[in-house]
Amino acid sequence: MMSDKNNFHPRNRHRTQYDFKSLIKSYPPLREFLMLNNHEIETIDFFDPEAVIALNKALLKRYYNIDFWEIPKGYLCPPIPGRADYIHYVADLFGEENKNLRCLDIGVGTSCIYPIIGVNEYQWTFVGSDIESKAIESSSEIIKNNKGLVGNVELRLQKSLDIFKGIIKPKEKFDLTICNPPFHKSAKEAEQGNIKKTSNLRGAVVAKPRLNFGGKNNELWCPGGELKFVNDMIYQSKDFAGQVKWYTTLVSKKEHLEKNYFHLDKLKATEVKTIEMKQGNKITRILAWRF
Ligand SMILES: C[S@@+](CC[C@H](N)C(=O)[O-])C[C@H]1O[C@@H](n2cnc3c(N)ncnc32)[C@H](O)[C@@H]1O
Repeated sequence: MMSDKNNFHPRNRHRTQYDFKSLIKSYPPLREFLMLNNHEIETIDFFDPEAVIALNKALLKRYYNIDFWEIPKGYLCPPIPGRADYIHYVADLFGEENKNLRCLDIGVGTSCIYPIIGVNEYQWTFVGSDIESKAIESSSEIIKNNKGLVGNVELRLQKSLDIFKGIIKPKEKFDLTICNPPFHKSAKEAEQGNIKKTSNLRGAVVAKPRLNFGGKNNELWCPGGELKFVNDMIYQSKDFAGQVKWYTTLVSKKEHLEKNYFHLDKLKATEVKTIEMKQGNKITRILAWRF
């Protein structure tokens, strides 16, 4: 019996420990990254980017029918279980009617990760936006090379620093929007954040971090960091109130919520929900609102 990974959403397929035998069947090159931990349990080195990429390829093949998944070197390599949790929790906002929704993913990234999960779990269709042409190019390759994504995911390049304007077309409707915002205020802070992440995983502080999940400038930081990004999103969302049923975003810092609530109140959001997600020793949350 595989032990439960605490607190993942009940429908998350990654609640139990990785079944490396079946993952290797799905993606044989994963075999070369397997090692035994101190308890003689099979695992991989989560600090080796190549090993994490191989694990992702295996998970994406095994659970989401993804045959081709490549991301440019040095870009954010998303941990799949946490990304899946976000999709399952926001699906719950729609109760039993959680299939075939139309979703806008703000900042789809190079990995196209949220559309991959949403299309396969709930037959959602997606528009994915990004300010980085590299993200649009890479996600477009992933879509082109996976039959299940073609026709279900459309990508749009955001040419300004706006969030919805220039992406949502006049009269276009979405059931929901999702976003994993860049969270740091500066490149320096992003680097410090990586040291912290590394020490969280290892249980000890390391002076020189090894990048495991990677991440380039636009992915990790923006002026004003997560707080400004989410507050801008809140303000800009009001202009599209009649076109979107639920707006959602990840908020990694709990301290930001008070300010977010203040702005939502000011704009007279009719409903606001905060959904906490616990992944390993990290707690993050989804902020959801509607007008
Ligand atoms: C933390 S990454 C998330 C990537 C991917 N969704 C994931 O979860 O792994 C944030 C992404 O948002 C993009 N981004 C930043 N500002 C944006 C904006 N105003 N509109 C759309 N995308 C933006 C960045 O280029 C980056 O790809």
